[in-house]
Amino acid sequence: MKKSGESTWKVMALMLMMVLALTPMIAVITVMTSEGGIVQTAFMSDRTANNIIPKPLSYEAGKGKFILNKNTSIYVKGNNEEETEELVKVAEFLREKLSPATGYELKVIKGENTAKGNIILTTVGGEENQGTEGYKMVTDPSGVTITAFKPEGIFRGVQTLRQSLPADIDKSTIVKGVEWSIPAATIVDKPEYSYRGLMIDVARHFFTVDEVKRQIDLAAQYKINKVHLHLSDDQGWRLEIKKYPDLTLIGGSTEVGGGPGGYYTQEQFKDIVDYAAKRYVEIIPEFDMPGHTNAALASYGFLNPDGQKKPLYTGTKVGFSTFMTDSEKTYNFIDDVIKEVSEISPSKYIHIGGDEADSTPKEGYDYFVGRVAKIAQKYGKEPIGWDPIETSPEITSDVILQNWRDSNSAAVEKKMKIITSNASKAYLDMKYNKDTPYGLDWAGLIPVETAYNWDPTDFAPKELVLGLEAPLWTEFIEDQDQMDYMIYPRLPGYAEIGWTPKASRDWEEYKVRLKGQGSRLENEGVNYYKDPEIWGSTN
Ligand code: ACM
Repeated sequence: MKKSGESTWKVMALMLMMVLALTPMIAVITVMTSEGGIVQTAFMSDRTANNIIPKPLSYEAGKGKFILNKNTSIYVKGNNEEETEELVKVAEFLREKLSPATGYELKVIKGENTAKGNIILTTVGGEENQGTEGYKMVTDPSGVTITAFKPEGIFRGVQTLRQSLPADIDKSTIVKGVEWSIPAATIVDKPEYSYRGLMIDVARHFFTVDEVKRQIDLAAQYKINKVHLHLSDDQGWRLEIKKYPDLTLIGGSTEVGGGPGGYYTQEQFKDIVDYAAKRYVEIIPEFDMPGHTNAALASYGFLNPDGQKKPLYTGTKVGFSTFMTDSEKTYNFIDDVIKEVSEISPSKYIHIGGDEADSTPKEGYDYFVGRVAKIAQKYGKEPIGWDPIETSPEITSDVILQNWRDSNSAAVEKKMKIITSNASKAYLDMKYNKDTPYGLDWAGLIPVETAYNWDPTDFAPKELVLGLEAPLWTEFIEDQDQMDYMIYPRLPGYAEIGWTPKASRDWEEYKVRLKGQGSRLENEGVNYYKDPEIWGSTN
């Protein structure tokens, strides 16, 4: 009796193991609204569960899979001709992303799909409650359909489609013997926050147009939708201003450490803006002032009290430079600069700096930031400023605070909108651990887990939060490899904080999906930090 009971148990265990081996691993996701109500309970099959970052709002597995092949076409249909043309561009983006690894040159066709085996991108039937960025992606063996209210939502959905394919899809040369399949599923998705940003400091070290474009492209796959360029600081002025050519000829001629620096012509800046716009990423230009202005002060004598140009600066100190806050010459100059930039920058935002003005008397600072905010508004832009801009009585609720330290009580009182960039959580220039070869640690070490485990509402009331931004300051970041290393793999986590509601985020579950991103990042040639906690020891 005992013996036969034991063998029955063994047979059952063996059968169970076989079933488990044949069943794709499934994970349960419970999605909650920000009010805390459960709206969806869904199941994720293995590959998709492991790969999609940011995690979609809801995922319901279907039966079977769609297999992409050389005869697959991408059909596009908008609600009008203009929208269809916009969708053609999104479809072409997708085709270009799928082409290197598959070797397929998928056809892009305008109009109704009539056959099986295709990808359909359409705003017809998109619903207003999906918002600008929401989408629905339905995959079954007969095809993939992404529906959205706006083309931007289709573009976000296309990133989900890319991540739903095997990781080899991101290789840059043809991969043979891979089944290019997408598990059948219905995904309904939209973001929690409208502002999900990456900042690159191109002032302390200059990065070329191609280097910036590459970071935009990499970030867009995680549905990042803002890239803020820190275009001026003590060590460099990086955007051509036609009325003041010495800003770039002198002010752009060096960088931290004394390297050759560089700058973007207005044409190059427009090229970056267009490249980003094709990815539905908005470029936000920043001119930091009244502090962090030595490069401007070194370019033009009239910006200095003694009329003499300051020497160029290639060190890493902060807080020593200031514009004259009581001189009309300063405000005329700033008006000219903002006017020119407004003409080439389609973003509704302009960033006016405002941080670490340690050499500017408080009264002058308060007046200055209020007056510059008004200049920005005169040219139709919404000003964004670093704290302590909110402490100026001249700053009102139509200015946005980018909060890098933890205090923001004046902004909350004034009901200013807030972008959370708290240094101890969101600064990409902070080291992961004490052995990280680059970066700083003044705001603390930021391991991948710390970077993921926070929420904008930890720092500001939900109704005031526009979203979050992760800044990469580059005093000690000199090249693309170092930039990659500090940004990845933390940026996907920031992207998820901005996209996925807090209640459906969990580090242990996220870690598994992030692990799945490793081979994708490798295939894309990203020099990411291979955190042993996620990818295991490499020894
Ligand atoms: C800053 O880190 N000074 C905004």
